[in-house]
Amino acid sequence: MTAPIPLSLRVNGERVDAHALPRTNLADFLREHLQLTGTHVGCEHGVCGACTVRVNDEIVRACLMLAVQADGASVQTIEGLSDSGEIADLQEAFRARNALQCGYCTPGMLMAAQDLLRQQPAPSRNEIRGHLSGNYCRCTGYHAIIDAIEATAHLRRRSAR
Ligand code: FES
Ligand code: FES
Repeated sequence: MTAPIPLSLRVNGERVDAHALPRTNLADFLREHLQLTGTHVGCEHGVCGACTVRVNDEIVRACLMLAVQADGASVQTIEGLSDSGEIADLQEAFRARNALQCGYCTPGMLMAAQDLLRQQPAPSRNEIRGHLSGNYCRCTGYHAIIDAIEATAHLRRRSAR
């Protein structure tokens, strides 16, 4: 039987020392070892985007990354972005425009949306669609999600003036 491997990383700003089996992916590690269940697991094949997290400031599919590959990394999950207030405006825009129904895709959508807005403060609707093309939503039809991200970008630009 394979022994668990030690790893040390930062998760939402806090140091975590743990052990994980070599086959454990980062999504399962976050959910099952750290009880950070905001990172959802859908397809487990890198297709749906439900498991999107930030690793060293770039978004990744946590189902495609092994937990041991995050040794030494800084990981931020939806809980971290939410608790810090970084995406409070985006969350409010999603709520106000009914951009979520079952909510299963929402953490991944918010992670991807915030990633886009950090890179491109004034995205076109096509750019928003393109950036979210790897995040599936079964409920909303996407329009409300695009609206919420567009509105947040607009508000951020206005408050930055
Ligand atoms: S669960 Fe990771 S992309 Fe679908
Ligand atoms: S709100 Fe249900 S999958 Fe997107």
